[in-house]
Amino acid sequence: MITSPLAVITGVVVPGDGRGRVLGFPTANLECEPPALPDDGIYAAWVRVDDDPHPWAASVSVGTNPTFAGARERRIEVHLHDVEIDLYGRMLTVDLVARLRPTLRFDAVDDLIEQTADDVARCRALLDAAAGVGS
Ligand SMILES: Cc1cc2nc3c(=O)[nH]c(=O)nc-3n(C[C@H](O)[C@H](O)[C@H](O)COP(=O)(O)O)c2cc1C
Repeated sequence: MITSPLAVITGVVVPGDGRGRVLGFPTANLECEPPALPDDGIYAAWVRVDDDPHPWAASVSVGTNPTFAGARERRIEVHLHDVEIDLYGRMLTVDLVARLRPTLRFDAVDDLIEQTADDVARCRALLDAAAGVGS
């Protein structure tokens, strides 16, 4: 891993709205102090679980999920690319290494799903390059 992070955020995983799995991109929602959060947006990140030093590649959303009705607090949501672990109650350390785009409000959920798939592919390529995969 050669990229130094834009920000490092730690937080405990709490229940979200339970929508991510339906969309095809399950996310772990972190509870952390709002001042700890960087600008809203979509980020590539390395994530560590509790005190395990292994970094998992992830796509991360920071914001209020404006596509969906109802006010909610700003939150950081972590979609791990290559592993499904039950993360409830676990402490995550999230190294945000690149910001891809701002958070958008989509008129159609299918457009959000399509954009998220593209985000995950971009994050994966970026993190693979940073880790020297394939070189
Ligand atoms: C890579 C990625 C990109 C996302 N981009 C947006 C976005 O642009 N706009 C938005 O409203 N939500 C975005 N989200 C958040 C999803 O709306 C959210 O993960 C989903 O509603 C599930 O939320 P839940 O875990 O609280 O159920 C994104 C999530 C991920 C993982």
